[in-house]
Amino acid sequence: MGTRKVLVTGGGSGIGLAVAEVLLRAGGQVALSARRAARLEAVVRAWPGQAVALPCDLSSPSERAGLLARAREALGGLDGLVHSAGVVEHQPPGHISEEALRAQLEINLVAPLRLGEEALSVLEDGGGMVFISSTLAMRPLTTSAAYSAAKAGMLAAMRSLALAGAARRIRANAVCPGVVDTEMVRAPRLNPGEPPPEAEELERRVSAQLSTLGALHPLGRLGKPEEVADAVVHLLAAPWTTGSELVIDGGLLLRE
Ligand SMILES: NC(=O)c1ccc[n+]([C@@H]2O[C@H](COP(=O)([O-])OP(=O)(O)OC[C@H]3O[C@@H](n4cnc5c(N)ncnc54)[C@H](OP(=O)(O)O)[C@@H]3O)[C@@H](O)[C@H]2O)c1
Repeated sequence: MGTRKVLVTGGGSGIGLAVAEVLLRAGGQVALSARRAARLEAVVRAWPGQAVALPCDLSSPSERAGLLARAREALGGLDGLVHSAGVVEHQPPGHISEEALRAQLEINLVAPLRLGEEALSVLEDGGGMVFISSTLAMRPLTTSAAYSAAKAGMLAAMRSLALAGAARRIRANAVCPGVVDTEMVRAPRLNPGEPPPEAEELERRVSAQLSTLGALHPLGRLGKPEEVADAVVHLLAAPWTTGSELVIDGGLLLRE
């Protein structure tokens, strides 16, 4: 494995946690960042000496400033950044709240751009960064204007960072997953103004939601976090790949 000391944002759950676990199993060292410190500490306890927790709210400019430098300090070097932290809020045009718009732009676009900028000066020569975008960057839903705009902007920023890093062989790439079975996808999609249903109805709705989403993919199911993680770890260390976006979507984008 070429990349051994990596900052993983969103590292306490879902795709970020799966990336951290692939790196840790291969003997790498990982700095994990997200808001819920307890999730990060659980990983640190499971991998003593290999993982450190750097909890922070990445939507706060002051909290995220210098995060890569702190990761480098904690790990004794840094050759990778994986930005998996993200949020989605499905709202149709006419119902997009200012708060949801700002939150999605901040964590899905501004934070990765700022972290990527810092990575250019903190990562060692030959290091890699990988951003988790989405197929919704290419093919939006009626309810995903803010998320799709942010994730498409993330791809544009990634390509610019790839150019800026090339002289020091620092590579920047992205993955665009289809629907992956994580907490994000298990959150119930409610209609505007609809109150959350009771527990039993909630479970039924989420299960129906997962089946419907899985069936959208030509390969017939949702993705697994570890399937995306393997691709991320490949891109982190791929020496002649930069500015690229790898679609991992069970064939979702092939559909009409
Ligand atoms: N699941 C999918 O179908 C899918 C598809 C395409 C792309 N993606 C993208 O994949 C990435 C990972 O999502 P996931 O599916 O693994 O869902 P997830 O488990 O909900 O992961 C999202 C992570 O982002 C962190 N996060 C959110 N807001 C944050 C903030 N303000 N500061 C710091 N950390 C923050 C969360 O941790 P805290 O709450 O503890 O802060 C959480 O660990 C996201 O960027 C998502 O947009 C997911």
